[in-house]
Amino acid sequence: MKLMKMALIVYVMMLLFPLISTAAEEDPTLDPGFYPQEFKDMKNPVQFNLAALREGRKLYKGHCEVCHGVNGDGKGNAAIIGKYKPMPRDFTNSSIMTKRSDGMLYYSVSKGVHGTRMFAREEIMKPEQRWAVIHYIRTFSKGEDKKDLHQN
Ligand code: HEC
Repeated sequence: MKLMKMALIVYVMMLLFPLISTAAEEDPTLDPGFYPQEFKDMKNPVQFNLAALREGRKLYKGHCEVCHGVNGDGKGNAAIIGKYKPMPRDFTNSSIMTKRSDGMLYYSVSKGVHGTRMFAREEIMKPEQRWAVIHYIRTFSKGEDKKDLHQN
């Protein structure tokens, strides 16, 4: 009797397992293009000024540059050497960047991008640091006038 019960439990688990794993794969919130509405609508609470850009630049150099590159083009050393798939986002690509609100970028920086090397920063960077770095990465697609910001 005990054996029957065990066998039944194992059988049910075997039936459930594929259901659980497909459910996780089909979870729409794990889609890299998914952004919760409350994030999409967020406004950057950190004022855009030189101090914020300096702070953002410092953070970028420490936390992001190794993958996203000195020029923000997504060709950082780690990504090139590691042949990342997908490669890190190219912040100079304004056709993509203009489609992202600050809140969307904040969501990706905070939570990471599922299925890529982009991991969550919410445990290691304070909210105002994440917002400052977002101001900074915007400057990569804002043209020549911001170029000297990225030089040492
Ligand atoms: C280990 C490498 C790595 C590091 C370090 C890294 N990223 Fe990423 N990042 C990626 C990859 C890979 C992607 C995914 C690109 C894609 O989905 O096409 C990405 C995507 C992004 C995106 C685009 C997400 C979107 O919603 O469009 C943003 C914004 C971003 N990273 C910001 C940052 C910031 C800010 C930092 C530093 C705090 C950082 N990343 C550090 C690898 C990295």
